[in-house]
Amino acid sequence: MSEREPIGVIGTGWVGLVTAACFAELGHRVVARDIVPEKVAALERGEVPIHEPNLSELIKRNRERLEFTTEIEPVLEEARLIFVCVQTPPTHSGDADLTAVMRAVEEIGSGGRRALVMKSTVPVGTGRRIRDLAKGFAYVSCPEFLREGTAVKDFLEPDRVVIGAEPGDEWAADAVAAAYEAVGAPIVRTDLSSAEMIKLASNAFLATKISFINEIANVSEEVGADVTEVARGMGMDDRIGPRFLQAGIGYGGSCFPKDVSALKILAGNSGYHFQLLNSVIEVNELQKRRVLAKLTKHLDSLSGKRVALLGLAFKVDTDDMREASSLVLASRLQGEGATVVAYDPVAEDRAKELLSDVEMSKSPLDAIDGADAAVLVTEWPEFAELDWAEVAKRMNTPLLVDGRNFLDAEAVRGAGLTYEGIGRPSASEPQT
Ligand code: UDX
Repeated sequence: MSEREPIGVIGTGWVGLVTAACFAELGHRVVARDIVPEKVAALERGEVPIHEPNLSELIKRNRERLEFTTEIEPVLEEARLIFVCVQTPPTHSGDADLTAVMRAVEEIGSGGRRALVMKSTVPVGTGRRIRDLAKGFAYVSCPEFLREGTAVKDFLEPDRVVIGAEPGDEWAADAVAAAYEAVGAPIVRTDLSSAEMIKLASNAFLATKISFINEIANVSEEVGADVTEVARGMGMDDRIGPRFLQAGIGYGGSCFPKDVSALKILAGNSGYHFQLLNSVIEVNELQKRRVLAKLTKHLDSLSGKRVALLGLAFKVDTDDMREASSLVLASRLQGEGATVVAYDPVAEDRAKELLSDVEMSKSPLDAIDGADAAVLVTEWPEFAELDWAEVAKRMNTPLLVDGRNFLDAEAVRGAGLTYEGIGRPSASEPQT
C-alpha cells in the first residue's frame, strides 16, 4: 500500500471515533485526541464506548495504525490534516456553542503547515471567521453526513464528500480530497460557507421530509388512507425518492433536532424568518405526543395504567438517547398518571440516566406482562419476532401502538391484539 497521509482527529465522540477508525481502515496512521482521560484509557484498552455496528471490529483490526491520546502534541507532530470532531451543542439562545471548536483552533494554531478540517456542524460563516482570526493554518470544511447505526458504512460508502475551502487553502482541500479518494464517492468542491450550508440544509430537508410524511399520516388517519401505501406510491417518483418517508412518532437524535433549530436561529440572526422550519419543529414535537390520544381512545384515562415501551433509543442500532421520542412519551405518560415500564436491548444504561421512575425490563415479554398497553418506540428486529398470541395472553389489555409502522398489523390483530399504527386504518374502522 502506498504511503498515506497521517490523520489527526480531535474529539472521539461518534463522528471522531468513526472518522479515526475509517481512515485507519483506509490505511492511514491516525492519532486521535480526546480531553477525557477515562475515555482515552478505555479506547487504548480496546473498549469502544458507543454501540455502533462494525466500529469495534474496525478499531481492533486497525489497532496498530491508531493512537489515542489526551495530548495535542502527538497530533500536531504527526499530522498535517487535523479533523475537528467536537460537540457544538446549542446555547440558551439556540446558537451553537463553539467553545470546544475554539479550543481546537487555539491548539492547532501554533504554526506549521497544517489544516484544520472541520467536521463538527457549525453555523454558516464560522469557517470564514476562524480563518480571518487564525492566520497560522489552512481551514477546510468537510461536513459529516453519517447516520448512527450505519456510520461506518456511511463513511466508507458516502453519497458524496463535501469539501469547502477559500482561495489560498487549495493545498489543504486537495489533501482532504486525496484522503477520501479511496472511498470512490463524488466530491463536491466549494467555498467554506456553501459547504457549511450544505450540511445544515441537508439535515433540515430530511427532517422536513419526515415531518411532511407525518402530517400526511395524520390526515390519512382522518380520511381513511394508509400512509405506508401513500409513501410507497410517492417514493417511486424519482424526484421524491422512497427514503425518509417513514411516518412515525417523530425524529430524534443528536443531529436533526439540533440542526433544524440551528438553521432557523442562523436565519433569524441574519434577519430572515425561516417560516417552514418552525412548522417542521412543531409537527415533530406534536408527533411525539400523538400516541397518547391513540391510547386514551381505547383506555379512556391513563391514570393508574401500566404502559410498556418497546424500545427507547432514538432509532434502531444505536444506544443513543439524545432527543429520543421515548423521553417525551415516558414523561407525558407519567404526567397522565400512568406507570411506565420499558425494554431496550442496548439503550438501557443510557436511558436510566435520563428517565426517572421507569421500570426497566430484561425482555419484551417481561415488559408487557400485565400491561394495559404497549407502544413500539424503536424498530428493533426482535420485536417483529414476538409471539403475539403470548403477548396478548400476558397483557392486561391487549393494546399495541406501533409507533414506527414496523409490525405486520394483520399478524398482530390475528393474535387478538388491538393494533394502532401511525397513519394506518385504525382499529375502529372496518378492515378491507
Ligand atoms: C442524521 C442524518 O441522516 C445524517 O446524515 C447526519 O449526519 C446526522 O443526522 P441520524 O440522526 O443518525 O442521522 O439518524 P437518521 O437515520 O437520519 O434518523 C433520524 C431520526 O429520524 C430518527 O429518530 C429516525 O427514527 C427518524 N426517521 C428517519 C423517521 O422518523 N422517518 C424516516 O423515514 C427516517
